[in-house]
Amino acid sequence: MRFDVLTLFPNMFPGYLGQSVLKRAIERGLVTIECHNIRDWATDKHKSVDDRPYGGGPGMVLKVEPVVDCVETVQQATQPPGHLVMLTPQGQRMNQAQADRLARHQRLILLCGRYEGFDERIRRILDPEEISIGDYVLNGGEVAAMVVIDAVVRLVPGVLGDEQSSISDSFSGVNRHLLEGSQYTRPREYRGHRVPEVLLSGNHEEIAAWRHSESVARTRRRRADLLDENKPAKPGTDD
Ligand code: 6GU
Repeated sequence: MRFDVLTLFPNMFPGYLGQSVLKRAIERGLVTIECHNIRDWATDKHKSVDDRPYGGGPGMVLKVEPVVDCVETVQQATQPPGHLVMLTPQGQRMNQAQADRLARHQRLILLCGRYEGFDERIRRILDPEEISIGDYVLNGGEVAAMVVIDAVVRLVPGVLGDEQSSISDSFSGVNRHLLEGSQYTRPREYRGHRVPEVLLSGNHEEIAAWRHSESVARTRRRRADLLDENKPAKPGTDD
């Protein structure tokens, strides 16, 4: 799978890409990530990529020409051109279903905003999908792009050592509506806190049943809204 990241701050990415799961996925050729500096497509002598908003107001707006030129150049470099995703707080909220859907694309182009936003004609011309990672404001789309890459890459076959491990995650597969329950490793006892006996029993059926009930209990305590999503809608109601 290939990602092209379009940003004014490409230096934010190598540290994150150079560690752990991402680093190994790139080294093994399962994932390619190219960062492009939108400023390289600025046309004036000051290399400007933003300007004051028409009608006044605070902040700066990303200019239409460098962004459209950058996206079109990157899209023209490969066939198929890649699915364009713009990271903005006005987008559809990111969740596991979105990650699953995005992982079905062979190429994603992630366009990161900064400042107060994009000139609206960028949307008109490029018709991107817009994604937000939550209802709070970030200084830019870069961290959001890393979140999207992180969530999608672990769904690419072969990226996780154990093929089962993304399926058993919270929000995935049969656990779509459940949080993961508690986990333990050695030692058996620490400061008087003991590992639950059932986990030491060797009885795999009992262990699986215990884990499931822990998972349901935790979800009920912390995120009852997820269990509600699981219920079929009552006839005659909208929920
Ligand atoms: Cl994608 N961008 C910015 N600037 N803020 C956000 C966001 C994205 N998602 C949530 N907040």
